[in-house]
Amino acid sequence: ILMLAAENDALPGGKVGGIGDVVRDIAPALAALGCTVTVLTPGYGFLATVPGAQCLGPQAVDFGGSPHSVMLFEVPGRRAHPGVRHCVIEHPRFDAGGRIYCDDPPDAPFASDATRFALFCAAAGRALLDGRFGRVDVLHLHDWHAAFLAILRRFHPAYAPLQGLRCVLSLHNLALQGVRPLGGHPSSLAAWYPGLGYEHGLLADPRWPECVNPLAAAIRLADAVHAVSPSYAREILEPSEVDNRGRYGGEGLEGDLRHAEAQGRLFGILNGCEYPDAPPPAPGWAQLLGAAHDCVLGWAAAAPGVPSAHFVAQARLAEWRARAQRPPLVLTSVGRVTDQKVRLLRQPGSDGRPALVALLDALGDAGVLLALGSGDPALEAWLTATSARHANFAFLRGYSDALSAQLYAGGDLFLMPSSFEPCGISQMLAMRAGQPCLVHAVGGLRDTVEDGVTGFAFSGDSPAQQADALVATLKRALDWHRDAARWQALRDAAAAARFGWEASARAYLSQLYRVTPAA
Ligand code: GLC
Repeated sequence: ILMLAAENDALPGGKVGGIGDVVRDIAPALAALGCTVTVLTPGYGFLATVPGAQCLGPQAVDFGGSPHSVMLFEVPGRRAHPGVRHCVIEHPRFDAGGRIYCDDPPDAPFASDATRFALFCAAAGRALLDGRFGRVDVLHLHDWHAAFLAILRRFHPAYAPLQGLRCVLSLHNLALQGVRPLGGHPSSLAAWYPGLGYEHGLLADPRWPECVNPLAAAIRLADAVHAVSPSYAREILEPSEVDNRGRYGGEGLEGDLRHAEAQGRLFGILNGCEYPDAPPPAPGWAQLLGAAHDCVLGWAAAAPGVPSAHFVAQARLAEWRARAQRPPLVLTSVGRVTDQKVRLLRQPGSDGRPALVALLDALGDAGVLLALGSGDPALEAWLTATSARHANFAFLRGYSDALSAQLYAGGDLFLMPSSFEPCGISQMLAMRAGQPCLVHAVGGLRDTVEDGVTGFAFSGDSPAQQADALVATLKRALDWHRDAARWQALRDAAAAARFGWEASARAYLSQLYRVTPAA
C-alpha cells in the first residue's frame, strides 16, 4: 500500500491536524494485519533532515512543461514498526519557511499550495512507476493534496499504467478542496500538466464550472471513497446549509458523493485511537495549573509580540492558584482555533448572547473552563477578550502535547461543540483518560459519544437552536455532576469505550482495499 498525505505525525513536525495522527496510526495497524505500507509526504525542507534519514537518490519528473529532479528519502519514524516505511519527497518548492501549509491569500486561494502538491503528486506517481517503492497494489490518497494523482492516473498518458492499481481516496475534511483554474494561469492544471488528455466534466467544480476541483475529480475517479466516520459518510450526501440550518454536508460535492454512494463506492469507517496499557495518572489541580502557567510563560517569552493573550491567561491562572481550591467542575477543551471548532461558541442563542458567554454564565462559580489551542488570529483574539471578561475562563493560546495530555487526564468534562466533525480525535483521547465529553452530535462525535452513557450530546435545527442546546446540555451535565456515583459511572463508561485501530484496519482491507488479510 502506498499512502500519499500532506501530513504524517510519525515524523517530528509532520502534523498540523488530525490527518497526521490518522496516517501515523493506520499504517502500523495495517502492517499488523500483514500489509506492507509506505507513507509518502513532501519534505517541506525539514522532514528529511532528521537524524537517520537516508537519501534514496534523485527522481526525474516532468512538471509545468519542463524536467525537474526531486530527491527521495526514507526517514525513520518516531517508533519503528515492521512493514511500515516513511518516505519523503524533497524539492526546493516544498519549503514553506518551516511550515507544512502556505497561507495563500484570499484572492488566490490554494495558488502556491496547490502547485506544491501538484508537483508532489506528479513526482510520487513517477517514482511509483519507476518501481522506487517496490510492489504496490493499492494507491491510497488522503484529502485534496493527494487527489491530483487520481487525475494523472486517469488522464495523463505517462501515468496510465497506474490504472492497474486500486485507487482509494480518504476524506478527512470536505471544507478544503484545492479548487484552481483549469487553464490560463501559471498555477492552473493545464500549466502544471501539459498534455493531459482530460475530459472536463470529470474535473470541473460543480459550482464554478471553469475551475478544476481536485477533490471532486478524485471522488469521481477513485475505486473507493472513504469518509472518516459512518455519520460523516451520511451527512455529506446532503447539501451544506450553514447559515439557516447550521448543517454542514457535502460542501457542494453532495451530488458526486451520492453518485459514489449509489455505485457502492462510498464507505464510512471510523478512525481509531491508540490505547496505552496504563492510563496516565490524573494531575492534581495545583499541578495542572502549574503546567498551564509554565506553558504560558514559555509562549510569552517566545512570542513577545502577542502579549495580550498570554497576559490575560497568566492573570487568570494566578487568580485560580491563589484560590487554591479545585473548582467542582473543570471543563476542558483542546483543539485548533478554527471556524469549524469555534463557530458555535460565537453563535448567539435565542437571548442574543454568544453560546460561550451564556455557557460561562451558566457555569458561574460551579466550575472553570481551561481551553488550549491556537489558529485563526481573529478567533484567538475573541477567545482572549472573552477570557478577560470572565473569571471562570482561561484561554491558553498555543499548543503543547504535554499540557494537552494533562488536560485530557485532569479535566472533568471535555467540551467539543464543533459545527461539523468528520471524525475528531480529541474526544477519544479525553474519554481514554476517563473524561466524559460534551459534544455536538455530528460526524464522528455522534459516533463516539453516547448521550447519558459516556458523555452528553446536543443538536438543534438552526445555529441559534444549537447554541441554546449547548448551554442547556451544560446545565444538564452540571446536574448530573452533583451526583457523585452517577458521575463516576459516566467516567468509567468513557474510559471503557474502545475505538481501536485494528477494527478500522480490518474495514480498510475488506471495504476499501478489497483484499483478505494474511493474518
Ligand atoms: C480532519 C477532521 C477531523 C478528523 C481528522 C482525521 O482534521 O477535521 O474530524 O478526525 O481529519 O480524519
